[in-house]
Amino acid sequence: MKRVLASLSLTLACAAVSQAGAVTLTFACDSVGQGFDECKKGADAWAKRTGNTVRLIQVPKETDQRLALYQQQLGARSADVDVYMIDVVWPGLIGQHLLDMKKYIPAAEINRHFPAIVQNNTIGGKLVGMPFFTDAGVLYYRTDLLKKYGYTKPPKTWNELATMAQKIQAGERKTNSRFVGFVFQGKNYEGLTCDALEWISSFGGGTIVDSSGKVTINNAKTVQALQAIQGLVGTVAPQAVTTYGEEEARNVWQAGNAAFMRNWPYAYAAGQEQGSAVRGKIGVAALPAGTGGKPAATLGGWQLAVNAYSKNPKEAASLVQYLTGVQEQKRRAVEASYNPTIASLYKDKDVLKAVPFFGSLYDVFTNAVARPATVTGSKYNQVSDAFSTAVYNVLTKKSAPGPAMKTLEGQLNRIKGRGW
Ligand code: GLC
Repeated sequence: MKRVLASLSLTLACAAVSQAGAVTLTFACDSVGQGFDECKKGADAWAKRTGNTVRLIQVPKETDQRLALYQQQLGARSADVDVYMIDVVWPGLIGQHLLDMKKYIPAAEINRHFPAIVQNNTIGGKLVGMPFFTDAGVLYYRTDLLKKYGYTKPPKTWNELATMAQKIQAGERKTNSRFVGFVFQGKNYEGLTCDALEWISSFGGGTIVDSSGKVTINNAKTVQALQAIQGLVGTVAPQAVTTYGEEEARNVWQAGNAAFMRNWPYAYAAGQEQGSAVRGKIGVAALPAGTGGKPAATLGGWQLAVNAYSKNPKEAASLVQYLTGVQEQKRRAVEASYNPTIASLYKDKDVLKAVPFFGSLYDVFTNAVARPATVTGSKYNQVSDAFSTAVYNVLTKKSAPGPAMKTLEGQLNRIKGRGW
């Protein structure tokens, strides 16, 4: 009898919940830096407003690993995850499994976001993701150490960076054997594709594949760029940089053991947290230019997308609408230095107070160089993989830059031959 009553009351409780229309959504968001906590804060706020529940799941740190996992789930038409945070380079890879956000979110709201990102997320007329935050590579430097070693400004060229990093490293090593001049993302993954595109583009070497689909990677400027960066590994950058992703680089930097770091804007707020050795000592500038070139930042960033197989598309779209809206983007910018995708927030005084370089580097964010994802479509991950592997072989001195780029050109043309 007791059991019957218990099960009856459970049934009634469920009925009450479903009567109120409340659902539980599963959300695959972020895990880098403060990513998980920040997604949770936003999702909880939406849950509180609507009476629904959001279950945030753990996701891999690396974008490549996330992609592989999500491709498996979506390929199997799994409804397990309702909302995915997707990389700016994925719409052409998984867009067919995502709902058209135009059917759920008013045009006026969509049109508040940077048009280039909305365009990037539009595949065959379908808006497969709402812009959540944008990203661009920036140069972090230690303001205290530049001063100590007699520099008044961050480096403008890669050569200057090498000279400054060398001098600071030599000086700091007298008291700190772990100190290094420069850290970046050197392991073989999507992050290396981003860093290497910056080096190459800053020397005037193009974007791997141009907007017409032509493979342009095998050129003299690219070779020059790779020679310059190869020369940094094992001198001012530790040999171990070829095992670093974003977080490994940030850990070295945030422990106070590097003069310069290439990273995304999230590393600013993380570095300013209580207990960080670099709190109050962080400068942020545009990345250096190559010889005869101009600075380049790779365009990164993330969108929120609804799984086409979700059982709760309306609620999922409502969560996306809330999280990508102006209020939440402002909160995330102020608390965790995530770049908004809404232009007006770059003039917001609270945002600029918390993250001054959102104002001073506005052009860097709006002129960032895109990876060739749109033009290579469903082949983008193969292209990026071949590219990062070739660059990795150069950094680890398995290949010289010239021959590596010639081989890569052949590989990319073979991928192209299978259609992009
Ligand atoms: C950042 C960027 C993303 C890029 C990734 C590479 O998360 O926002 O676009 O693919 O870094 O590691």
